[in-house]
Amino acid sequence: MFVIGNWKMNGNRELAQALTEALREHADELNQVQVGVCPPAVLLASLNEAAAETELMIGGQDVNEHQSGAHTGEHSTELLSNFGAEFTLIGHSERRQFYGDSMARVAAKVAATLANSQLTVVLCVGESEAERQAEQTFAVITEQLETALQGQTGDCLERLIIAYEPVWAIGTGLTASPEQAQQVHEFIRSWLVQKFGAEAANVALLYGGSVKPENAEALFAQQDIDGGLIGGASLQVDAFIAIAKAAA
Ligand code: G3H
Repeated sequence: MFVIGNWKMNGNRELAQALTEALREHADELNQVQVGVCPPAVLLASLNEAAAETELMIGGQDVNEHQSGAHTGEHSTELLSNFGAEFTLIGHSERRQFYGDSMARVAAKVAATLANSQLTVVLCVGESEAERQAEQTFAVITEQLETALQGQTGDCLERLIIAYEPVWAIGTGLTASPEQAQQVHEFIRSWLVQKFGAEAANVALLYGGSVKPENAEALFAQQDIDGGLIGGASLQVDAFIAIAKAAA
């Protein structure tokens, strides 16, 4: 099971210290869980340093599709790796909605990350509230998966994780019910198997959207939910540790 925190544009060096101290303290209870955190890029080095002697995996919140060059404000796969990242989110709904990450751009980022680095891709997909109401959930997820993974072969599977994050559940306090989440996860797993073959059944599928200590256990108990991508609750050390324990 994976529990990955996405700090978004929050956090600081003190949070990096507090979290890593708590991870050392609770290490024995969390040895079955792969815990990761995506801090803002400027905190990657601090978190990497604070994470010494822990199993914490560090990740980027996004990555640029180019390897280097005149791309002010952006970060390449090499920069992320250089500061200790082992994975990166790609296609988070906030990037898609507010920062110009079209389906084509998400696909370019996935392709560049898989081709030019050793980073694992955590590909985020999810439908909006209007799309769910219009019963377009599966069509939207299919299109997001198809475009993002266009041209990929089974070679990508070892470095691929999918995070299902219904946009209507992100930061809203509304969580998909365990059954709603399971239904979409099952769909994603069969889509992957159909595209890449039986081996794709092992790709980890994470749920994200208002996961809290109170609902984590029921979500993680679902057959096709292999962990969570945690936003708001990852900023509170106690809550994040409690969610990680729910995955143990
Ligand atoms: O990346 C994390 C998700 O956007 C979930 O955020 O837990 O604050 O709803 P949230």
